[in-house]
Amino acid sequence: MEIKDSVIVVTGGGNGIGRALCRRFAADKARAIVIADIDVAGARRVADEVGGTAIETDVSREDDVERLVEETLDRHGAIDLFCSNAGIAKNGDERAPDEEWRRCWDVHVMAHVYAARAVLPSMLERGRGYLLHTVSAAGLLSHPQSATYAVTKHASLAFAEWLAIAYGDRGIKVSALCPQGVRTDMLLRAETEGRSFLLDGAVEPEQVANLVADAVADERFLILPHPEVAEYVRRKATDHERWLRGMRRRRKAEP
Ligand SMILES: NC(=O)c1ccc[n+]([C@@H]2O[C@H](COP(=O)([O-])OP(=O)(O)OC[C@H]3O[C@@H](n4cnc5c(N)ncnc54)[C@H](O)[C@@H]3O)[C@@H](O)[C@H]2O)c1
Repeated sequence: MEIKDSVIVVTGGGNGIGRALCRRFAADKARAIVIADIDVAGARRVADEVGGTAIETDVSREDDVERLVEETLDRHGAIDLFCSNAGIAKNGDERAPDEEWRRCWDVHVMAHVYAARAVLPSMLERGRGYLLHTVSAAGLLSHPQSATYAVTKHASLAFAEWLAIAYGDRGIKVSALCPQGVRTDMLLRAETEGRSFLLDGAVEPEQVANLVADAVADERFLILPHPEVAEYVRRKATDHERWLRGMRRRRKAEP
């Protein structure tokens, strides 16, 4: 898909990876960029910078996502690329309160479901459209400190795969972005919460945005800003026991 002249929505576009995506899409001359974020001030700053539109959106609320899509379609006539990128991260094991589990589920899974419900009808009618889901390497592997994150990111990846299977032959392209550490506020917060292993080999959000632009141009499903993740996935598939031992060591190293 060509970014030039396309209409793009980026959730969580007010900061971090989403902001870098908006900047890259603007550099590639997208026709319209809609920045959807719960942090409307952040979204407005990015909108001012890239010449886009900010829409206050809590992606965990279906009515917000519907309104975001309706307003964008009314204003621009179509959505070519919808980036479901908003995310949250917190350490959490089985004792994390239900509301934390639900919040992660709503932001990492239901937000993508709401987006697909809202945006697919118009894409299927045109016979083309692109969904980019920001997942995480934790969706392919795990996260030693956060069950809430690892589990919901697995579900997020499963939904992206399912969309690609169900709609790939009807003109709908899907990509899943699965980075390890990316130097954003989320990673800096993680550092203070004792998840600093992600800082090793962390990449800049701009690097991630450049890789996304290449992958969207190639219409490639899996985007791995850390290529070693492909090797970790192979090792996990080849010898699960060994992989679990390695993850236990990683968890012990950073309690
Ligand atoms: N930074 C990393 O190391 C890393 C690694 C792998 C995956 N990711 C994923 O990348 C995505 C972006 O993360 P980031 O690192 O840019 O984080 P960030 O905290 O810098 O930015 C996240 C943005 O999402 C917004 N947001 C949060 N909840 C929202 C909601 N309910 N509705 C709308 N907007 C909401 C925030 O306001 C913020 O602007 C997330 O899905 C995250 O899980 C990040």
